[in-house]
Amino acid sequence: MESVTVASAEVLEESRANQESVEDAPVEIIPLGPGFAAEIRGVTLADVAADDAVYAAVRAAFEDHSVLLFRGQEVSGEGQLAFSRRFGPPETTKVGSLGTGTNFVILTTIGDDGKVVPEDHRYAMRNKANQLWHTDSSFKAVPALTSVLSARTIPDHGGETEFASTRLAFERLDPALHKKFENSFAWHHYGHSRAKVAEGLATPEELDALPPQCWRLVWRNPVNGRGALYIASHTYAIEGMERPAGEQLIEELTAAATAPGTTYEHKWKSGDVIMWDNRATMHRGRPWPGNEPRYMVRTTISATAADGVETMRPPKLQAAE
Ligand code: OGA
Ligand code: MN
Repeated sequence: MESVTVASAEVLEESRANQESVEDAPVEIIPLGPGFAAEIRGVTLADVAADDAVYAAVRAAFEDHSVLLFRGQEVSGEGQLAFSRRFGPPETTKVGSLGTGTNFVILTTIGDDGKVVPEDHRYAMRNKANQLWHTDSSFKAVPALTSVLSARTIPDHGGETEFASTRLAFERLDPALHKKFENSFAWHHYGHSRAKVAEGLATPEELDALPPQCWRLVWRNPVNGRGALYIASHTYAIEGMERPAGEQLIEELTAAATAPGTTYEHKWKSGDVIMWDNRATMHRGRPWPGNEPRYMVRTTISATAADGVETMRPPKLQAAE
């Protein structure tokens, strides 16, 4: 009897200690957007990388708010990667992207000669493709949990990044559609989004490396149980629907998810770092004058079973694995 009492007192003590360390973490959360997105104050990326309690608090904010902004950061590639790694395994950048083979994606319009590239240059066209509403890596065999983007060179005009909550979009739908969409599956292909910008923008090498992927239309967050539409400019078909009807549904869902007044548009300042939940948001870059340089660095973290990725696979594929 006595040992039971002692054990439970210890357990109580330990859980109190854990709670206190999380509560003591000086993480301030300031809401930014219409029902999602928040600025995190009081901690740096390095604090998150170094401290379990700070990570736990920021992770909880990420699950709740879907988009997190950190301002005034002194970011290095290594610092950004150490922060990102807290959230899971980093992606290795695919063939055809600047940064291939590393954990960094470089989004830039600055060419090798240090000058801004012309508007028909591949770098500039890549930025155009990012200006379509999308979620990152839905075209990969392992989709992304989060992307972390840091601004290194910001144009004087435009070049914002705009976010939409596909979680709130799902929740705005007629509840009668929830079950239907939750049991629907959609096909995603890198070539589909690139072809919208220019024929041949995706190279044969990229297309070879990135065969179409099929994912459930709703990603349910395992932490809070909230569902989100999982769609992107990469989505080209709905399983079991005629192609035109599927395309129309994808277009309608995208339009509803990104309706005016429902998005958060971020105007970048030097030192800003933003992370977003690719399971629960879409984003797009906004245009800027072609003669102004822009240089951004992204790290991307793969989704794992703990993030619900296994629930996204169609049943047949699940059985085959
Ligand atoms: C990205 C992206 C948009 C932008 O980094 O994944 O889509 O504004 N960026 O650069
Ligand atoms: Mn993107």
